[in-house]
Amino acid sequence: MRLHAVDPANPDPDIIADAAARLRIGELVAFPTETVYGLGANALDVEAVARIFAAKGRPSYNPVIVHVPDVDAARCVVTHWPDAADKLAAAFWPGPLTLVLPKAPQIPDLVSAGLPLIGVRVPAHPVALALLRAARVPVAAPSANKSNQLSPTSAPHVLRGLADVDGVVLDGGDCAVGIESTVIDLSTDVPTLLRPGGVSVEALERVLGMIIQLAAAPATAEAPRRSPGALDRHYAPRARVQMCAAGDGIALATSIDALRSAGARVGVVAWSDFDLPFNGDVSVRQLSGDAVEYAAQLFATLHELDARGVSAIVVESVPDLPIWDAVRDRLRRAAS
Ligand code: TXA
Ligand code: MG
Repeated sequence: MRLHAVDPANPDPDIIADAAARLRIGELVAFPTETVYGLGANALDVEAVARIFAAKGRPSYNPVIVHVPDVDAARCVVTHWPDAADKLAAAFWPGPLTLVLPKAPQIPDLVSAGLPLIGVRVPAHPVALALLRAARVPVAAPSANKSNQLSPTSAPHVLRGLADVDGVVLDGGDCAVGIESTVIDLSTDVPTLLRPGGVSVEALERVLGMIIQLAAAPATAEAPRRSPGALDRHYAPRARVQMCAAGDGIALATSIDALRSAGARVGVVAWSDFDLPFNGDVSVRQLSGDAVEYAAQLFATLHELDARGVSAIVVESVPDLPIWDAVRDRLRRAAS
C-alpha cells in the first residue's frame, strides 16, 4: 500500500479527490476513523468488496460495516429507519456506533455476508468524512488488518499488516478512540448489542430509554451468527496473550517468571501501579486506569510489543465494571 499524509485539521482536497476517485473505480483505500483505520471499497461494487475479503483473508461469513457521511446517506443503504435509529444517530453520529438495519437491495450480499441486515455508521474523523463526502458512494470498510489480527490505530500499523495489498493509505494520525465501534442491531424488537465498543451500553440505554439485550452465543463455531465478527480469537497480537488477576503484583511476577524460565521474551500490560522487580528484559507498559484512555492506548501498545519481538504478553485484567466492557471483550479475544 502507498501512504499519503493528510492533515486532519485541513485535508488536502486533491489527495481526498484522488482517493475518492480510486474508491469509485473499485480500488482499495485505507483511511483513518476515530476508532481504528478502515480498509475501504465502494460498497456498491461487488468486485471491489471482494478485494477487501481477499486482502484481509477474511472469511466470507463475516459482514463488513458500510460507512457514510450523514444520516441521509445511511437511510439510502437500509429499507427501514426506525425511531431508535433516529435517536441514536442524533446522539452519537458522527461517532463510534454502528447500527444494524434491514439491507437495501442495491448493497451486494457479499457486504452483509448474505445476511438481510447491514451495519452502517458515520465515523467522526475529519479525513474519513471528507473522503466519504467526496466518494459519493457508501464505503464498505472493515478494520485495515489481516483477519484475526490486531486492528490498526495508526497508518504505520496498516502498512505493517497489509504491506502486500494494492491501494493507498491516508495517514491522518493516531485514532483517538482506539477501539472499534459499538455494534447494535435495531432490527430486533429489543435492540441487541452485537459488539461492545466506543459507545457504552449505558449511554445507548440512556438515549433509547430502554434496556438493550446482549446477543446470544451461536451454537457452534461454524453456525451462522448474529455478529460474525464476534469470533473467539480476534484482535490478537502475534505474541501469546495471558491474563492475570487485577491488582495482584505477586501473581503477575509469578506469571512473568514462569514465562521467562520457559524462554519467552515477555511483555507486560498493566494499569495498576506495580513495582515490578524486573529490568531490561521485560517490557512493562503502564496504561491508564481510566477506561477511555486505556482503550485509546491498548492496540498501539500491543502493536508496539509485537514489533519488539515479544513472544508472550501478560495483561493485567481490567476492572469488572460496565465502562470496561469493550476493553475486556477485546482482551478476552486476544487471550483466547
Ligand atoms: O470501528 C469500527 O467499526 C471499524 C471502523 C473501520 O469503522 N470497523 C470494524 O469493522 O471494526 P470489522 O469488519 O473489523 O468489524 C465489523 C463487525 C463484524 O465482524 C460484525 O461483528 C459486525 O461488525 N457487523 C457488521 N455488519 C453486520 C451485519 N450486517 N450484521 C451483524 N453484524 C454485523
Ligand atoms: Mg476487525
